[in-house]
Amino acid sequence: MERTFAIIKPDAFAADHAGKILARIYAEGFKVVGLKKIFMSKVEAEGFYYVHKERPFFGELTDFMSSGPCVVMVLEAPGAIKKWRDLMGATDPAKADAGTLRKEFGTSIGENATHGSDAPETAAFEIPYFFSGLELLG
Ligand code: CMP
Repeated sequence: MERTFAIIKPDAFAADHAGKILARIYAEGFKVVGLKKIFMSKVEAEGFYYVHKERPFFGELTDFMSSGPCVVMVLEAPGAIKKWRDLMGATDPAKADAGTLRKEFGTSIGENATHGSDAPETAAFEIPYFFSGLELLG
């Protein structure tokens, strides 16, 4: 069994899409091991996305992620990392396949509704960034 880290980003949360996205998560067979609504600070967003700190969009990305509440989650399933990335679709909603979350709920490459870990090492950083072990029991 594998775990991945997922976010319902501020654009999707503000547009009241969290319920529909969660329904898709359950329908696809993920176990939701951790879930909470948070309002990330700019500093927390910068720490979370530090791998992108040299990218031209880093300021825009971290402003957006700290612009409103979001939902952070730990999802469990066989092959959870790829399974969640497949459900999200391509980073750019315009390039995402029909039926994916980013196609349905994303509006631009920056405001793309959801985030997911891209590799086991990334999940190993991202999960404990927002969740303590105690929050992931059961
Ligand atoms: P995410 O999966 O959260 O990981 C990094 C994020 O950076 C990505 O989703 C996009 O939302 C964002 N991103 C990637 N490329 C760009 C870009 N060219 N302009 C703005 N944001 C971007």
